[in-house]
Amino acid sequence: MSHDVRDLTLATEGLRRIAWAEREMPVLRRIRERFASEQPLAGRRITACLHVTTETAVLVLALRAGGAQVTLCASNPLSTQDDVAAALAAEYGMGVFAVRGEDRDTYYRHIHQALELRPHITMDDGADLVSTLHGERTDLLEGVLGGTEETTTGVIRLRAMARAGALRYPIVAVNDAKTKHLFDNRYGTGQSTIDGLLRATNVLLSGRTLVVCGYGSCGRGVAMRARGMGSQVIVTEVSPLCALEALMDGYQVMPAAQSAPIGDVFITVTGNTSVLRPEHFAIMRDGAILANSGHFNVEIDIPALAAMATSRRRVREHVEEFTLADGRRIHLLAEGRLLNLAAAEGHPASVMDMSFANQALSVAHLAANAGRLEPVVHPVPTVIDEAVARLKLEATGVRIDTLTEAQRLYLESWQEGT
Ligand code: ADE
Repeated sequence: MSHDVRDLTLATEGLRRIAWAEREMPVLRRIRERFASEQPLAGRRITACLHVTTETAVLVLALRAGGAQVTLCASNPLSTQDDVAAALAAEYGMGVFAVRGEDRDTYYRHIHQALELRPHITMDDGADLVSTLHGERTDLLEGVLGGTEETTTGVIRLRAMARAGALRYPIVAVNDAKTKHLFDNRYGTGQSTIDGLLRATNVLLSGRTLVVCGYGSCGRGVAMRARGMGSQVIVTEVSPLCALEALMDGYQVMPAAQSAPIGDVFITVTGNTSVLRPEHFAIMRDGAILANSGHFNVEIDIPALAAMATSRRRVREHVEEFTLADGRRIHLLAEGRLLNLAAAEGHPASVMDMSFANQALSVAHLAANAGRLEPVVHPVPTVIDEAVARLKLEATGVRIDTLTEAQRLYLESWQEGT
């Protein structure tokens, strides 16, 4: 298999780190063992466009154990772990097309190279693969039986495609499984975003005012962890429901414009565009730090920030300083790309274990139901979601109660009341 990775000599280190992640992924290990004996993916070709991390390596190796041939490309130009890409290419002969820091053209060239496999199944994190297939490689669509999507932003894009009647094959929305978004989005994004912020800046969070823009599952996690580190947390929202939830969770809630002159650190996690923009930059404090943990680098209006700046320079790895006409300095982290993957290592393996168990089982579900699913966005079947929760608890050594017969009958009856 051809590949394009930074440096094959990094493979040994990549293997070591993949083995470390695998220790924290017991559910995926169990699935890999079952896949190895049952071969549910025999003869299937899979192209995966995912963050190329140690956790993703454990996932794609499970798919291969199940009989699949896999090619892998990055779902973000800055998230690739080059040693992992090298290990998969050199040690497993996998078609990996990913180089950390690749430019936009290379990013898309890599997607096209990964698609040369002519996949039966696609796996996406952000829907760039599906969108490339539906835009430039329509010749391959007929051979695709289905795909999976990992993240909220991707699911939103794919639902829009389905609504417009443009989606040509079924997609399983892995993001929407409870065992994915209730854990990965909240605890994964919460911890890894703070990890990225600290690795990039080494600032003390205690006593600082940290503004979280967006209070979805990811925003909840970031706010919770920032509060745990001693920050005063402000939440900005557009949804009345999410705003109310943030308020009842004990945060200050206000419009972004009101938070702009108060915040020390701003983290966007909305999935939307231009959340922080010129009207906010104009009134921020000297030294303000801006970062994004949403999927795309559109949440902070970087072109506008650059246009307002009289100079910009890199002051530290992952930190760019923009000086405005009045001398105030605004610091942008990781080019406004996913902070947790660009400046840290993404979510810890233990939480990706559940997300990727859903991925592996959803891929097997698609293979088993080839030709039977409508070309729309499907939920992860509840049996899969529940199986992942059960396996994770088992692996963690936590046992839970079962209903007594009387309790089961009580729940099924309606006659008994006050
Ligand atoms: N998304 C967030 N964290 C990740 C990780 N560690 N690996 C793959 N995708 C991720």
